[in-house]
Amino acid sequence: MSPLQEGPVGPFPEGADPDEYDRLRRRVMWKMPTGLFVIGSRAGDRRNLMTANLVVQVSHDPKLVAVSVEKDAVTNALIKEGGVFVVNVIDREDRAIVRKFTKPVEHDGEQSLNGFAVHDGRTGAPILDQALAYIECEVRNTVELGSHTLFLGEVVDAAFQKPEETEVLRMEDTRMNYGG
Ligand SMILES: Cc1cc2nc3c(=O)[nH]c(=O)nc-3n(C[C@H](O)[C@H](O)[C@H](O)COP(=O)(O)O)c2cc1C
Repeated sequence: MSPLQEGPVGPFPEGADPDEYDRLRRRVMWKMPTGLFVIGSRAGDRRNLMTANLVVQVSHDPKLVAVSVEKDAVTNALIKEGGVFVVNVIDREDRAIVRKFTKPVEHDGEQSLNGFAVHDGRTGAPILDQALAYIECEVRNTVELGSHTLFLGEVVDAAFQKPEETEVLRMEDTRMNYGG
């Protein structure tokens, strides 16, 4: 496996200054609207929650949701081993929560991660009690992309935990960026 490239990633348009183009391309790509979710994963007794925006439905039949996860993330190892993940859809009012899951969680028992109440879904992966809704998936396909692994999961359970009309959190509701 080759180490990840340092500095701007090509290809570059002819004549472009790599650093300048890199900064511009990043700002353009940050404009792509996305949601903002907390991914639950589980392998054996190990559970984790991770903030992620690279999450999208990719097929109607079968019902597939794709999640792109950094190679070195704890979540990556847990999804590979456990073969499942949960997309926790977050209430817009709970936007502060996403800052709590940008590092591997502290385990404070089965019912709480980083002080947030969780319960196991059908797949065994952790669902945040305060999530607006959750989508549980079993991994059907895994694609190694480079910096990230794309997990394609079939939806095996989904439900609301709050009223359906509750406003959902999106990336644009925060001052955060990722990727680009
Ligand atoms: C706004 C935001 C969005 C993020 N989106 C993703 C993502 O889609 N995929 C990913 O692998 N990491 C994403 N991250 C980074 C992870 O949350 C972070 O690297 C985390 O430490 C890795 O999780 P883990 O090691 O606890 O599994 C995002 C971070 C932020 C702040």
